[in-house]
Amino acid sequence: MSALIAHISDLHLDGTEETTRRATRTVDHLRSLHRSPDLLVVSGDIADHGAPEEYEQAAALLDLPFPVLVCPGNHDDRATLRSGLLGQDPSDGPVDTEHRGTGFTVLACDTSIPGRDDGHLGTETLERVRRTLDEVALLEEYPRVVGVLAGHAHTGAAATLAGRPVLVAPGVTSTLSMPWETEEARAVRTRPPGIAFHVLAEDASLTTHFRSVP
Ligand SMILES: [Fe+2]
Repeated sequence: MSALIAHISDLHLDGTEETTRRATRTVDHLRSLHRSPDLLVVSGDIADHGAPEEYEQAAALLDLPFPVLVCPGNHDDRATLRSGLLGQDPSDGPVDTEHRGTGFTVLACDTSIPGRDDGHLGTETLERVRRTLDEVALLEEYPRVVGVLAGHAHTGAAATLAGRPVLVAPGVTSTLSMPWETEEARAVRTRPPGIAFHVLAEDASLTTHFRSVP
C-alpha cells in the first residue's frame, strides 16, 4: 500500500484571527480527508515570532489523529519549539526529527540559523543524517532516497537536486505570487492555504499533488 504524506508549511502563527483561520481551515481539511495521511510534515515557520503562546496554539492545532513531524524555519525559536511543541527540554541545538513509517522514513533536517533569515545544513545535522542513513542501510542503496521535502518558499514548487526531486509545500498563511503573475510579486496572504500530498508507492515512485484548501 502506498504511503500518503501531507505536507504544509509557513503557518506563521501569531495569534491573529487570520493566521488562526487559515491554519484551522487547513487542519480541518486534513482531518476530513477520505483517507487519513500516514504522516503530516510541517516544514517550518510554525510560529511567527517564536513565542511560547504561538507554540501553545500550534500544539493544539497539530494534535491530530495521525503522526506529525515538525521542522523549524527562520521564524521559529528552537528552544521554545522544543518545550512548547515537542515536550522536550529546551535547547538551542538543531531540531532534527524523524518519522519511521511503514516502508518509509522521513528525516527532518533543521537548516535554520538562529537570528538569521537564511539557512544551511550544519555539521551536527549532516552527521545525524549520515548516521541514520547508515543505520537503515540507505547509503548503500542511495536511490532509495526518493526526494527532499522543503518549505520556506511560501509557494508550492518542484525542482531537482542531485537528480532527486525537491518538493516545496505551499504556505498555509504566507503565500507568494511570482513576478509573472502580479505586480505585487511578494504579496503575502493573498492566496488560499495550500497542501502538498506526496504519494509514495510501493515501488518507491513518488507523485506529488498540490492542492488549495477549499
Ligand atoms: Fe515563512
